[in-house]
Amino acid sequence: MSDYRFLKACRCEPVDKTPVWLMRQAGRYLPEYMKVRSQVSFLDLCKTPELAAEVSIQPVDILGVDAAILFSDILTPVEPMGLKLDFVPGPVFEKPVRSMADVDALIVPDPEEGVPYVMETIKILRRAFEGRVPLIGFGGAPFTLACYMVEGKGSKDFAWIKKMMYTAPDVYAALMNKITAMDTLYLNAQIKAGAQAIQIFDTWGGILSPSDYAHHVLPYTQKLINGLDHSGVPVIHFVKGAGAMLDTVKQAGGDVMGLDWHVNLGKARDILGADMAVQGNLDPTVLFAPKAVIEREVRRVLDENAGRPGHIFNLGHGILPTVPPENAIAMVEAVHAFSTKG
Ligand code: CP3
Repeated sequence: MSDYRFLKACRCEPVDKTPVWLMRQAGRYLPEYMKVRSQVSFLDLCKTPELAAEVSIQPVDILGVDAAILFSDILTPVEPMGLKLDFVPGPVFEKPVRSMADVDALIVPDPEEGVPYVMETIKILRRAFEGRVPLIGFGGAPFTLACYMVEGKGSKDFAWIKKMMYTAPDVYAALMNKITAMDTLYLNAQIKAGAQAIQIFDTWGGILSPSDYAHHVLPYTQKLINGLDHSGVPVIHFVKGAGAMLDTVKQAGGDVMGLDWHVNLGKARDILGADMAVQGNLDPTVLFAPKAVIEREVRRVLDENAGRPGHIFNLGHGILPTVPPENAIAMVEAVHAFSTKG
């Protein structure tokens, strides 16, 4: 079924109501998630298809969103490249990639062998959601994956990856090429298994100058998107902090641009043009506000879109773990109520 309102909006077709989902909608803000999570580690949850499917279904049942997202992490496919991964609770790679020898040691695994549980989860979810909501598969953009692989964990200044980019461009390029090759196989395997849209998360793309983004990030994301067998499977490209370089980021390709809350959605659409849909862009902290404020802010974002086809409502980044679930429900209800046609 390709007439889900989410998929129609990805194609810039008119819809009865604005579709809505939330980045990181499966997670710690839901007591139902915490219950499952209390019995297994996060990585084991990702690696157990029945449990991963269960927590992916939870927000669809509880919030009434118009799309589901696979439960996994952007870093799960990096582990079979040969980098041991842990979550404490943020991701940590024991042996970060720092030299050409480290890059040479990385494997580009067959996803069916490296991460079979991801494809199994997708198959379970497609059966569970048939006729109800479409399923979004996802991966990290090559640059955001490289950030974690080189830094070894989250970072404030990203000094290691930037130092590699400026002082050892050959090592950086070799690493990015290997990650792009892995990512292409991985996302195509998700499409083959049944993912109906693909979101590429470039959480850290915005830490670079527009010029460094254009030289050191764009070519790889472009290659990744070009390499996807995505006829009929829309690609959503979310680059956090991209407001000042949307014209450049658009060159990567894809059907939908994910927007964070630092841009006016209407102005972003003027830059991107009528052929590109957008997804976003409520500030995630608005979900701590009273219902009346959530409704006012939902209306503001819808007003910025001004009825143009091709808008998927979302937060401008992931939902925060301490948000009361009823506030997320209020957001979803407000989007549907305020955007209903006729
Ligand atoms: O509903 C969903 O979106 C679930 C699937 C999902 C997770 N992570 C589960 C998760 C998705 C799409 C992601 C993407 C992800 N992971 C990104 C890109 C999006 C973004 O938020 O910027 C990034 C950068 C990561 C890496 C990551 N994973 C971090 C930094 C952390 C720890 C801190 C945090 O933000 O939660 C994780 C752990 C993680 N990934 C959790 C979940 C539900 C929490 C794990 C737990 O239960 O302890």
